[in-house]
Amino acid sequence: MTTPPLSYMSGFGNQFASEALEGALPKGRNSPQNAPHGLYAELISGSAFTVARAENRRTWVYRLLPSAVHGAFEPMPHASWESAPFKAVATPANRFRWDPWPQPAPGTDFIDGIATVGGNGDVDEQSGIVAHVYRANASMQDRYFFNADGELLIVPQQGRLLIQTEMGALQIVPGEIALIPRGIHFRVDLPDGTAAGYLCENYGLPFRLPELGPIGSNGLANPRDFLVPVAAYEAGTRTVRVVRKFLGQFWQATQEYSPLNVVAWHGNLAPCKYDLAHFMVIGSISFDHPDPSIYTVLTAPSVHPGTADCDFVVFPPRWLVAEDTFRPPWFHRNVMSEMMGLIKGIYDAKAEGFVPGGVSLHNCMLPHGPDVATFEKASTAELVPHKVDNTMAFMFESRRVFRLSRQALDAEHRQGDYDGVWDGFHSPLTTPVP
Ligand SMILES: [Fe+2]
Repeated sequence: MTTPPLSYMSGFGNQFASEALEGALPKGRNSPQNAPHGLYAELISGSAFTVARAENRRTWVYRLLPSAVHGAFEPMPHASWESAPFKAVATPANRFRWDPWPQPAPGTDFIDGIATVGGNGDVDEQSGIVAHVYRANASMQDRYFFNADGELLIVPQQGRLLIQTEMGALQIVPGEIALIPRGIHFRVDLPDGTAAGYLCENYGLPFRLPELGPIGSNGLANPRDFLVPVAAYEAGTRTVRVVRKFLGQFWQATQEYSPLNVVAWHGNLAPCKYDLAHFMVIGSISFDHPDPSIYTVLTAPSVHPGTADCDFVVFPPRWLVAEDTFRPPWFHRNVMSEMMGLIKGIYDAKAEGFVPGGVSLHNCMLPHGPDVATFEKASTAELVPHKVDNTMAFMFESRRVFRLSRQALDAEHRQGDYDGVWDGFHSPLTTPVP
């Protein structure tokens, strides 16, 4: 029995409570001697018990069977999902760009369709992030997944994803994102038959909303626009496969019940989704180009204050009104490393070559910026108010350098001539200053 899946509660990091069966949530006790309806109480802790209250993430679930009921897990191969550290190949001191990843073989589901671009940190240390793409053409049939190595930030580019989780169902379309906490069981159905997009696997501290500082209490992504599922459960006896990612390896086992058997839950460790169209963009209304940190949707902080293992940054439709200003992203070199993707439209720093489904990588201190066509157009444009529209680019920006996976470095769809983007610039002075 499953309740209608697409109902939501709203907020980010709030304490939620939901029951799919009336009276399933215990009143006034988290683990009463006997939980209602004979359910089993289970605590899922997403943070150390003793972290500061604002950092504490945990959820109590009330389920048909304890998730401890299963046999031994056996190793399982995965052809294209790799884990950090990526030291099999030297990562060149080059800029990189890839065309969209090729279509997978028929019968590829969301998990099998994940291919690693690169990442940083160390899965053993629960530190760092890894950027992946996914390409899928099959729903996960009687197959469930959880990732003990990190949370997953899912950024669809094509096709809807119906994500059934222990806490309920989320459906996301391109332009929305979903966040699945570490260790939460889920499976993914494809209502459109195919799907493609991007993933950030975050080994470290979980994503949260950035501080707003002088911006104040409103702006960027507002907490109430994050939607959390309501409880739904799968009952009955049937044979299913559960896949776990653990210390960079994949493991699988069969069991005789769905792990999505939570009838009620309460807490703040929960999957959520967010529509990027709700992002309130802030920019210059006088002159000059602000730092792109103003576009941060979510941040996964590092242990160094003010820096992030990952800032998830978007470049949405917005008005450009600055005077006497080169409006596209300027030439720059950045101590943080920038992995970019494009959900739709055109990114305003490049005239061509960066297409939806593609990826670009500008690692620590590697120079980049507009191409010649973009530079010349922006240098001569009449600076009337202009709307950048029908676009959504994003960035996984990390304080650590992205090391490349071998598959990404060797990929046929990697653009071998990317450096040529910056051909054609000329020095304004051709003779030495006397
Ligand atoms: Fe950049």
